[in-house]
Amino acid sequence: SKECSLIGLWQNDLGSEMKVMGVSSTGYFFGTYLTSVTSSDKPISESPIHGSQQMGDQEQLTFGFTVAWSFSDSTTVFVGQCFVDDKGKETLQTMWLLRKKADSRQDNWKATLVGTNVFTRAKYKSP
Ligand code: BTN
Repeated sequence: SKECSLIGLWQNDLGSEMKVMGVSSTGYFFGTYLTSVTSSDKPISESPIHGSQQMGDQEQLTFGFTVAWSFSDSTTVFVGQCFVDDKGKETLQTMWLLRKKADSRQDNWKATLVGTNVFTRAKYKSP
């Protein structure tokens, strides 16, 4: 049957790249995220991700992960599901919340962004 694995290199509709390097027997996974865009004024660099996935149905597994951005003071959480089509092509459908640092409690209301991203497998590029 067609199974989904998060391990490997993924690219989303914005051109961001996510590399999942390992999944443990309990569903914990880790890797790196290189965003193509930023709401900060800092230069973009690679950031670590930490997440967990359900270990049951590998065909349509659900997962979540956190990116604590290494170059900005924001944090993003993603939740999603992997779908496999009948040709075996995997797609990750996700939604995210991006929490920006508010300068005061009065600014709290405008500190959270929400959106969606679709990830497909990317080819490793030689350096
Ligand atoms: C920041 O702007 O403070 C850090 C970078 C945030 C990038 C966001 S996370 C949601 C969306 N999906 C991406 O791949 N990049 C943007």
